[in-house]
Amino acid sequence: MSSELKSHWNNAYKKDDSQLGWFEDYPKQTMKLVAQTKLPKDAKILNVGAGTTTLIEALLDAGYTNLIANDLSENALEKLQFRIKKSHNYDLNGVVDDLTNPEILNQLESIDLWIDRAVLHFFLTENEQDTYFNLITKLVSKNGFVLIAVFETNGAKKCCGLDLQRYNVTMLETKLGPDFELISTFNYSFINPFGGERPYIYTLFKRQICN
Ligand SMILES: C[S@@+](CC[C@H](N)C(=O)[O-])C[C@H]1O[C@@H](n2cnc3c(N)ncnc32)[C@H](O)[C@@H]1O
Repeated sequence: MSSELKSHWNNAYKKDDSQLGWFEDYPKQTMKLVAQTKLPKDAKILNVGAGTTTLIEALLDAGYTNLIANDLSENALEKLQFRIKKSHNYDLNGVVDDLTNPEILNQLESIDLWIDRAVLHFFLTENEQDTYFNLITKLVSKNGFVLIAVFETNGAKKCCGLDLQRYNVTMLETKLGPDFELISTFNYSFINPFGGERPYIYTLFKRQICN
């Protein structure tokens, strides 16, 4: 991932959160799948490419206590950590790192739930995608879960000015491999703050075997 992309994302987060094309007031679809995991409240949850997501408030409000947020953009993570400290007096563990060239993330261990909304589709090369899925295999524990919400194959071709690789459920199953069983999936058309329709596919997988 180039330093231009890092600047691109840092610049994106100079806007108010409500002006971001992917902003959602409450991440209802993600929380629906989180509830299906039936994980204990102290489960270790890693939200990759978190940006300034409202998911962190939603998870804290639902009682989850062990949260890690990653992003390439330090601007995004600083904004998120500041907001969460103010609203929930919670010291959010933030990891600034590149999912396509991880140097810190790969040292984390035993993640019970990996959550990605609207990040994977930015990785266009096979090498970037392989690095992302290898990281999942390295970090997600036995019986752990992977929740991926990504632009589906009929979805928009660009987001935030960047080209996208769109997915269907079979593509995600193939990338994750046989260790991960599909538990739940649905399509959801997100209407962005500017009225644009952005069709997503939501998926929840469970890891079947030991790391
Ligand atoms: C469309 S936004 C989605 C943000 C958040 N997941 C949400 O749903 O509100 C994509 C996010 O992915 C982050 N991102 C892009 N490439 C990344 C990479 N290589 N490693 C980590 N984060 C990345 C961006 O900085 C941005 O915050």
